[in-house]
Amino acid sequence: MTDLVVFPSERPLTGSVPVPGDKSIAHRAILLAGLAEGQSRIEGGALGADNMSTLGALRAMGITTEEQNETLLVGGKGLYGLRAPSEPIDCGNSGTTMRLLSGVLVAQRFATVLIGDESLSRRPMERIARPLRLRGGRIEGKLDPKRVGEITAPLHIGPLPEPNVLGPLEYEMPVASAQVKSAILLSGLYADGSTYVREPLVSRDHTERLLLALGVPLRTVGAIIELDGPAFSGKLPAFSITVPGDPSSASFLVTAAQLVPGSRVTVRRVGLNPTRTGLFEVLRDMGGSLVLEPKGEEMGEPIGDLHASAADLHKGRLGGELVARTIDEVPILCALAARASGTTLIEDAAELRVKESDRIAMMARVLRAFGVTCEERPDGLAIEGQPEGKLKAADIESGGDHRIAMASCVLGLLADGPTRVRDADNIATSFPRFVGTMRALGARIEVESGGGTP
Ligand code: S3P
Repeated sequence: MTDLVVFPSERPLTGSVPVPGDKSIAHRAILLAGLAEGQSRIEGGALGADNMSTLGALRAMGITTEEQNETLLVGGKGLYGLRAPSEPIDCGNSGTTMRLLSGVLVAQRFATVLIGDESLSRRPMERIARPLRLRGGRIEGKLDPKRVGEITAPLHIGPLPEPNVLGPLEYEMPVASAQVKSAILLSGLYADGSTYVREPLVSRDHTERLLLALGVPLRTVGAIIELDGPAFSGKLPAFSITVPGDPSSASFLVTAAQLVPGSRVTVRRVGLNPTRTGLFEVLRDMGGSLVLEPKGEEMGEPIGDLHASAADLHKGRLGGELVARTIDEVPILCALAARASGTTLIEDAAELRVKESDRIAMMARVLRAFGVTCEERPDGLAIEGQPEGKLKAADIESGGDHRIAMASCVLGLLADGPTRVRDADNIATSFPRFVGTMRALGARIEVESGGGTP
């Protein structure tokens, strides 16, 4: 287990840095490349462990892949080219791998078992199983003793029962979730009939953009997506993509730049899909300093450079439709709120309790450890900002959640002494070069391997 020791910033953060390729887009690109005809090329920096889980799953089903420096070549075998894996597929910590893959596996004539690490094995899976069953798929999990009607991994999927084809589906999703929506749309590629899905709020739409770019007939009106059947007779063409930088990873750097006095930081080639930029909107509403410089697009995804500098922040508010577009950024928004004048409210965000950790409870603990007053609520937090003076140096147990660990590191820059962030290995699931990037900007962070439990 690795601990990070973060030292208080003695000078501004400065420089221009890249971030890893967007984790969400990379998952989809890898999966669709495996289902395409022939060799696809995926570029976009070092892939994190979560993306490697998706790649590993494809390999386990006979897809050949090759890594050349930071380019990934995937030899797609077509929509029906996967073969039965010889053992359960390990999705590691990655909910996106497990949920997206389920949409494809439910249409196969072989059976598969999906397993995950301890955190993933606690996460709710009935949300994907239900719609996939409604169109004739087989998918069963372990009954969750604590939540009635809920299942968790291991998931037992397939084989597709007679007549060997999924049916049409009209489905209203109870919760906005890009993973669920994507599993449904991917299963729609195999269905005899059309797929209609409606979300309560618009979640990230990378699957839709990528499928459209590959020529799949798909229509979106607000939070409704339709994909035409019958049985998708087309073939997905092989493609080449340079994955845009991950705005979720960039958020940690952009926030650190707001908070460390005198900082000026540029993050290059970041994905600016509006379904992902909620944090940047909240940050600007709080008086943050952030300029977005457009740099074109890649397979339907807008890209730009982010120029962030230090600013005096005032209280903000996150709720309603903005939550779905900010969902992974709430831990770092808590760090912003900790240094803003006034009380910032985060509402309508109960989904955070079923992420890699219970992020509401975790961030309440982290904030208090740094001496910040906050109130934990069922669907969010109220955070009393402390813009003056230093925060209290803290000893943080990150619970193996990458975003909790990185948000804690940013807060550590503002403390009155060294902060220890325990169990930080999981940062590699999304941002393998986080420490190196923070150091390149001038932060002092030391890595201590073999740290025990506190
Ligand atoms: C993701 C969707 C979101 C997000 C996750 C990645 C995706 O999860 O929190 O980190 O790539 O589709 P939900 O679909 O559970 O909201």
